[in-house]
Amino acid sequence: MNRMDQLQRLFPEAFVDGRLDLEQLAKLCEQEQPTTTGSPRQSGLWWEGKEQAYQESQTPSLCQWEVQETTSGAEPLHTLIVGDNLDALKLMQPDYRERVSMIYIDPPYNTGQTFSYRDNYRKQKSQNRAKSNSQVPPHQRAGEEFQRRHGGWLSMMYPRLILAHQLLAPTGVMFVSLDDNEHHSLRFLMDEIFGEDNLVANVIWRKKVVRGRGATHILPQTENILVYAKDLSQLPAFSEPLTEKMRKEYRYEDDQGPYKLIPLAKSGTAHSPRPNLVYPIEAPDGTMIPCPTHQWRWSQETLAAKRDQIVFRKGRDKKWRVFTKQYMTLNGKDRRRTPTSYYDSYTTTHGTQDMKALFGEVVLDFPKPVGLLEDLLVWVTGESTEQEHIILDFFAGSGTTGEAVLRLNQADGRNRRCILVQIPAPTPTKSAAHRAGYTTVADVCQERLRRVEEDLAPDEPSAFRCVHLTPM
Ligand SMILES: C[S@@+](CC[C@H](N)C(=O)[O-])C[C@H]1O[C@@H](n2cnc3c(N)ncnc32)[C@H](O)[C@@H]1O
Repeated sequence: MNRMDQLQRLFPEAFVDGRLDLEQLAKLCEQEQPTTTGSPRQSGLWWEGKEQAYQESQTPSLCQWEVQETTSGAEPLHTLIVGDNLDALKLMQPDYRERVSMIYIDPPYNTGQTFSYRDNYRKQKSQNRAKSNSQVPPHQRAGEEFQRRHGGWLSMMYPRLILAHQLLAPTGVMFVSLDDNEHHSLRFLMDEIFGEDNLVANVIWRKKVVRGRGATHILPQTENILVYAKDLSQLPAFSEPLTEKMRKEYRYEDDQGPYKLIPLAKSGTAHSPRPNLVYPIEAPDGTMIPCPTHQWRWSQETLAAKRDQIVFRKGRDKKWRVFTKQYMTLNGKDRRRTPTSYYDSYTTTHGTQDMKALFGEVVLDFPKPVGLLEDLLVWVTGESTEQEHIILDFFAGSGTTGEAVLRLNQADGRNRRCILVQIPAPTPTKSAAHRAGYTTVADVCQERLRRVEEDLAPDEPSAFRCVHLTPM
């Protein structure tokens, strides 16, 4: 493709009858200028290289898309971009700015190790460190150590997060998985880019359940998932279906459907009782039941209006108790619940099982469980009436997010679109992936998506297109 064709693909509006209108191009370029200011925020977290990392987010990509595989028929729903996510995030700006509903990333944690991908952004300790340490004041030494351990990782993440933030819709939300190596630095970074007020939660994910020995002091069982809204005031409420266990609690039934019993007496004594909520209630045998706690939940007027929802039961002590019916459906829809900041439904074991189910072995290290990703998708998009949501994962690894989107769409008949980005990092020669014939992590990702699609709808054409980033 020559440079004029590339320009036409980027700015089709600047071409009239195939000829470039320079004035129009200049106007379009002006509109494309990043809205952020020309330098990073001076306050907050600072490290050597921040200015340069910021500039990396502002310069155009020197790559172009190269669509290598397309499916027959209609425009594919999903995209796998093979290349560096910094370029991908830049190239996505014209088409996807403020359009993405949900971003999930599981970036390298900076553990200092190497898995099937680089996970060490730390600098080597200086040879003369021991000698120089005695001459350097402790606060300066701490600063140097922070720089050595975290500077490289922060410089890698900063421009990517700035660009990701620009892609999020005003109602969008971003989830970032991390362990304790960079959790504290990421909080500062996200606070700076998203604004501290847009922190939704830090979800603690119990990733394994093992106990016993294996650590000198405390065995890590949890990781973090930091959740930030683009604008918390515009982020729709999250909800999820009741668990099977919760549904079983609705064990009674009348003509309005299944219901459970909730005590009418309000628990807790945080505030003084409201006089209209403290009164005796007449039991079926004519005796009067005093309020057993500091107040009832309903006033006498509400009680009279909703008499058919009141149930009297005698306890083991032969004393009357008053309950209200809570139906499983509310306004014709099944009740849902609000997710909590502690998540333990799926562990890393589920992640490896998911991969084994598709490949017969664990071809890449530590894939996230598909169930975890499906749950996050349900939190954000489960109740939305919007049919099309764009979901982005720009550290895709083996493609867990892609699998979750495919499976959830199949389960609820929706059309969430997913965009995955994975660098074609070579698989280590001794790895299971390499032995199985996958030369890059992106190959594993692509094959995983193919296998999931085959599993779900063997006769359908693929809904994924694969786009390679190549230097211009
Ligand atoms: C922790 S893994 C993600 C695992 C994934 N969540 C899963 O379930 O398989 C991080 C991935 O990000 C990829 N990666 C690292 N730097 C990247 C970059 N600059 N662009 C795109 N992908 C990158 C690595 O190759 C690695 O596969």
